[in-house]
Amino acid sequence: MTNNSNFGGLRVAVTGGTSGLGLALVRQLVSDGARVALVARTEPDVARIAGETGATGIVGDVGRKTDTRPIALQITGSLGGLDVLINNASSLGPTPLALLADTECEALEEALAVNVVGPFRLIRALFGALDASAREGRGALVVNITSDAALNAYSGWGAYGASKAALSQLSAIWNEEAGGGIRFIAIDPGDMDTPLRAAAVPDADRTALKRPADSAAEIVNTIGSALPGRLDAVAGVGAE
Ligand SMILES: NC(=O)c1ccc[n+]([C@@H]2O[C@H](COP(=O)([O-])OP(=O)(O)OC[C@H]3O[C@@H](n4cnc5c(N)ncnc54)[C@H](OP(=O)(O)O)[C@@H]3O)[C@@H](O)[C@H]2O)c1
Repeated sequence: MTNNSNFGGLRVAVTGGTSGLGLALVRQLVSDGARVALVARTEPDVARIAGETGATGIVGDVGRKTDTRPIALQITGSLGGLDVLINNASSLGPTPLALLADTECEALEEALAVNVVGPFRLIRALFGALDASAREGRGALVVNITSDAALNAYSGWGAYGASKAALSQLSAIWNEEAGGGIRFIAIDPGDMDTPLRAAAVPDADRTALKRPADSAAEIVNTIGSALPGRLDAVAGVGAE
């Protein structure tokens, strides 16, 4: 685990923070001194990880429209604002994976709701908080977790791949339109040994997969590089 001790005071929200990459990000960020809020649907898991890490636990479904505002309000209320939003929670769509010809429309809708429309709604709901952070000189960043399935036409990954392609393109366009205030980046964490991966490819050779902690460390380093100057601006905040 790397140590970005300058993350003291950084206010970060991580969706899907109870398992796999999201959990590894929460652990790494808390260990680096960030103040973290995590979001997931399963209440006992949220309570357990919040208790374990000291992060704020928020129960909610990012794919559900009515959950967006309560999630956003709990994030800004618990952290006193927001510097970094990590849209990490994800749906595979049909599980087990299915060819597009065999994919129910509802499964495609589920992948789009959780992987594209949900992050879009959450960004919009948190835009004011992120913009305030940017104007205060703290820096503001949205990290959208994508996949190589956004670029490659893997058979069986149609709903998921299409949703990740949309998320990647939204990130790029939003970054273009934001004019440097809030930064938006899309990151492919690589193939990791997680429950999502096991649900998609049950017979995969797990030894060939990355550890989520390694991907989390890479992403946290990218966050540090994407917020130049911000660390000085909040240097005093970390001493709270
Ligand atoms: N694993 C890989 O090989 C791989 C490769 C490329 C990209 N990725 C991307 O990496 C990210 C993390 O994947 P992972 O493999 O770490 O997944 P994971 O281990 O299955 O964890 C998913 C997390 O998201 C939460 N979640 C799922 N649906 C949600 C929803 N609708 N609302 C709120 N929370 C939700 C889950 O908790 P609840 O079920 O309790 O809600 C859990 O905390 C995803 O964006 C994925 O697409 C993964």
